[in-house]
Amino acid sequence: MSSKSTLTAFRRLIIAWFKKHGRDLPWRRTRDPYRILVSEFMLQQTQVSRVEGFYHRFLESYPDIETLARATPAMVRESWEGLGYYRRAANLHQLARTVHGEQGGVIPQDIEGLRALPGVGRYTAGAVATFAYEAAQPAVDTNVARVIRRAFHPRAGKAARDQEKLWKTAQALVPRAGASAWRFNQGIMELGAVICTAREARCWECPVARACSTGRRTLKAGRSLPRSKPPSRKGR
Ligand code: ADE
Repeated sequence: MSSKSTLTAFRRLIIAWFKKHGRDLPWRRTRDPYRILVSEFMLQQTQVSRVEGFYHRFLESYPDIETLARATPAMVRESWEGLGYYRRAANLHQLARTVHGEQGGVIPQDIEGLRALPGVGRYTAGAVATFAYEAAQPAVDTNVARVIRRAFHPRAGKAARDQEKLWKTAQALVPRAGASAWRFNQGIMELGAVICTAREARCWECPVARACSTGRRTLKAGRSLPRSKPPSRKGR
């Protein structure tokens, strides 16, 4: 496990950067658990830019969980048309029916309750807990896993044991206070989406490079590279 001060620095830098640079996305303007669930189901295999339009239209047709629960499978499938991976729509519909029919229409707050719902895995449960209820829970999707691996576990692979390490570090990073937990989780996800991407880490532009194992190595290597031009003699 990384030192407490490195975790603290990393956490602070992410939060400060997100406050300034986070994108204004529709599902970041709400804490309504139903709306968060819809966004998370849509975002599971689809890019942010494609999801936005579908998200608004879907919520116009199904503004609350009861309306969705009462729809027919054919209606829901039609509303999902264009997004693909219809399994997500079927799961979301089933989820609405379960929550409406058996749980008084209340989406659970706890991880176990969330994970028991159709189509909700470890990531989605964490995302709803933190993005809707501002719980101090980690939400490790592909982007977040990549950021944490590069920052704290550069040798981690795909093995379950390594993935568990990433979740543990994510848990240690999430602030205890609700609003900060929300912001940190949004921030680390955002960093993975726009700076620390799968294609390149872009450490030179990264706000957390100093608190990141890959970042520190990249910046150090950059400083010791031979210069293309000899240093200016001006002022000597
Ligand atoms: N992908 C999944 N959840 C997201 C969120 N809240 N913001 C941006 N991308 C996401």
